[in-house]
Amino acid sequence: MKANQLREKYFAFFEKKGHRRVPAALLVPENDPTTLFVSSGMQPMMPYLLGEKHPLGSRIVNSQPCIRTQDIKEVGDGRHTTFFEMLGNWSLGDYFKKEQLAWFFEFLTGEIGLDPARLYVTVFAGNDQVQKDQEAIEIWQELFKTKKAPREGKEGFDPEVKVYLYGSKKNWWSRSGAPDQMPTGEPGGPDSEMFFDFGADLGIHERSIFAQNECHLNCDCGRFLEIGNSVFMEYQKNQSGGFDKLPARNIDFGGGFERILASSWDQPDIFRTELFYPIIGAIQKATGVGYRQNPVFMQVIADHLKAAVFLVDQGVEPSNKQQGYVLRRLLRRAVVKMQQLKKEKISETDFEPLCEAVLRIYQGIYFDDIAKRKKKIAPVISQEVDRFNQNLIRGLRIVAETVPEEINGQFAFKLFSTYGFPFEVTRELALVKGIDLAREAFEKEFKGHQAKSRTAARGMFKGGLADSSERIVKLHTATHLLHQALRKVLGNHVRQVGSNITAERLRFDFTHPEKLTPKQVKEIQDIVNQTIDRGLEVKKEIMSLAEAEKCGALAFFKERYAREVTVYSIGGFSREVCAGPHVQNTRKVGHVEITKEESVGTGRRRLYMILKELPNGS
Ligand code: ALA
Repeated sequence: MKANQLREKYFAFFEKKGHRRVPAALLVPENDPTTLFVSSGMQPMMPYLLGEKHPLGSRIVNSQPCIRTQDIKEVGDGRHTTFFEMLGNWSLGDYFKKEQLAWFFEFLTGEIGLDPARLYVTVFAGNDQVQKDQEAIEIWQELFKTKKAPREGKEGFDPEVKVYLYGSKKNWWSRSGAPDQMPTGEPGGPDSEMFFDFGADLGIHERSIFAQNECHLNCDCGRFLEIGNSVFMEYQKNQSGGFDKLPARNIDFGGGFERILASSWDQPDIFRTELFYPIIGAIQKATGVGYRQNPVFMQVIADHLKAAVFLVDQGVEPSNKQQGYVLRRLLRRAVVKMQQLKKEKISETDFEPLCEAVLRIYQGIYFDDIAKRKKKIAPVISQEVDRFNQNLIRGLRIVAETVPEEINGQFAFKLFSTYGFPFEVTRELALVKGIDLAREAFEKEFKGHQAKSRTAARGMFKGGLADSSERIVKLHTATHLLHQALRKVLGNHVRQVGSNITAERLRFDFTHPEKLTPKQVKEIQDIVNQTIDRGLEVKKEIMSLAEAEKCGALAFFKERYAREVTVYSIGGFSREVCAGPHVQNTRKVGHVEITKEESVGTGRRRLYMILKELPNGS
């Protein structure tokens, strides 16, 4: 089965069961400073899981591109990636365990044709607050009994061989993990995971398979691959540390698209499927090395480049902060690996065929006009490669020539500050020399240096608005003025879909179907400047999200944790939920100028704005 067919089959299957398809959200969550990336399909669904009515009803299906950088160290084992697609179906207070488990099982065994003999499931074993999920156990037992176990010559599988219990660490899901990790207000619940068995020759019908060796479903030996997770989301953490029931019982299902595809191909290495192999092919060509010779490095390059292409496409640029820094780390790690594979010096153009391969894999799904996209994305990547490349060989030589005793936090900081080596890259290079560098040692150096020189890279390790220099604060307030001015001139369909502020300029993405005329641009700019001149007071208030919405505050980020939010009002002109900081009076902003207007995909426009006293903008 082809990847695109698999995705479509999943949609069609759940649409037949009354689900409505929703488009994927962007990788960078809107106005949500609590998290850098969307890392699971449920994140954009948070308001609805908490009880808000979804405009399309109570059954939703989609596929969501996700980034999980916490898995970066695992990339190279044939199954982990930082970028992946999560197939998702949700019941918002509608169906529950019985339907979910039966449908997912039917989808895998009926639609995809996976052999039930190769499938195993896990169920929540219970903890001191929530009991063992007996209901899920029984549902699975019944489901497996209905499938013939041919090699045993009898009807139905022995459920004892198929269903396994695990505790809170493995079979409880929330955005923050196990129950004790969940903040107040966070929803979660027990879950049930599905595993595909790649080790059929190990005697899968024997109950003793797990006793014979250390292997079990959740071990990382490579035999079993987790391919889907059904979360029974019915609890919410309360203030006393216990759980209340959510207003409705929800299903939050996440399926690993790449992994389900690999299982359907009986291919334990997901990088050998069509979702990666064209990128691997491009790497082989660029380096002259075969995949078998160094699968680990090639997987890292392929995964990181794929993540980078999606991020750049969605407007993230390499930088020293936040999402931009993650992108920089991914790219530089890929560059180092590429250089280590290739005999002669790499060039920035080596990465172009890789970008193109990524675009082609998702042509028609996430990328339309490939040539146009490539023109936009490849230069951003090439520029970063080029920037790093200048110091790469020297940095690598220094690592090679330094004796292990001298490789420490200070050394890692020097490589970072002088040669642009992200800490993770230095750590990997040091590991080859038998040195396991601690991140704390590097961070200590970094912070010491920062305290001495007040460097501009503050915020690199934390979330939140990274740089609160005066210009950034001014531009932040200007963003709110711009947002409101756009709505006044173009209409209330305008909705912020992204913003990025540097000391030089603000960039603002919003929904609008067509190019702005010069007259409209001027009108918007004039409104912003006139509002600045009115000297409006910027007021900050804390209130509940419901209150904020009631008083008309723009709030496009409802998936945030907090029940209480900060609302900034600018006179009677604008009111938005936002983390700040802002100037206290609009006059402080000084005048602004819109320098550029462009398209960023269908129905989305982008504006750049600068503070007028600055010599140049974007
Ligand atoms: N939200 C669940 C997960 O990410 C489905 O595993």
